[in-house]
Amino acid sequence: MTTNIGKAHGKIILMGEHAVVYGEPSIALPFPAVEMIASVSAYEGPVRLDCSYYHGIADDMPEILQSLKKAIELALESLKQPYENLAINIESAIPPERGMGSSAAVAVAVTRAIYNYFNADLDHGRLMHMVNISEKIAHGNPSGLDALTTSSLSPVYYRKGADIIPFSLKMDAYLVVGDTGVTGQTKEAVQSIADRIEKEAQPISREKIALLGKLANHAKGFLERNEAKELGEAMNQAHLLLAELGVSNKELDNLVSAAREAGALGAKLTGGGRGGCMIALANNQSETEKIRLALLNAGAVTTWMTSLNQEEGL
Ligand code: PMV
Repeated sequence: MTTNIGKAHGKIILMGEHAVVYGEPSIALPFPAVEMIASVSAYEGPVRLDCSYYHGIADDMPEILQSLKKAIELALESLKQPYENLAINIESAIPPERGMGSSAAVAVAVTRAIYNYFNADLDHGRLMHMVNISEKIAHGNPSGLDALTTSSLSPVYYRKGADIIPFSLKMDAYLVVGDTGVTGQTKEAVQSIADRIEKEAQPISREKIALLGKLANHAKGFLERNEAKELGEAMNQAHLLLAELGVSNKELDNLVSAAREAGALGAKLTGGGRGGCMIALANNQSETEKIRLALLNAGAVTTWMTSLNQEEGL
């Protein structure tokens, strides 16, 4: 029996979510903590899909998994292979619908596994093209940031249509991620901003989006110059703008406040919002612990931590 593995990981959007859909810059980091890996194996056998949240025949996949089905079909189509004799097993520990890039990571991993199974080379551009088509089902209008970051080993500065700029992180600071436990609604949140823009006589929301883009640019400089305090302030401003655009909610606002009160240099939602996760910036490991505890006390269901210094490992 031939079996092959494909992997991808979670991601954290540090700055620029939503604005990136409108061509503004964004900064995102791969998040390869053990709990954040999606791994897929493809092997010969009757068509079947087994994953942490669904076990069954691919034809009967529920709507929520239609984007995954699309990713499988696109990979097979591009390899000119029929969808038969292929069983797929997905082990994804990335919590779905939490702004951690779960749908993109699973699509990246499944595409890689299928290409490995057929011993075919997978060009990165082709991978992005296919994953972004499947992400349209999950997200409506994906910017491409999730597909890129869940398949990339380095942090990225990304702007739609522009060259991707990988960069290394050398900031002496940590990010704490807090999960509200509430399902995020990326597709609805992206659509709600589009609706606002369409209805407005004055470009109020467009201006906020441009400001989010400016903050992402500033954040890149702060990261490069190891200016954690300034980065924290930029994160606070970004959260406010995102809340004004209607994509925060009370659970996110509550965790953001708890992190700031516990000494975070800044805090904001991450990803699509309206649920899902938030991130907080901490000066050092002991601050990180304080923030984690404060988040758990304020109702976070899980917290994770990552360094912003790659030498310590992301
Ligand atoms: O919620 P997530 O992890 O899928 O992140 C969505 C990020 C957005 O900027 C809101 C949408 C996009 O396609 O970039």
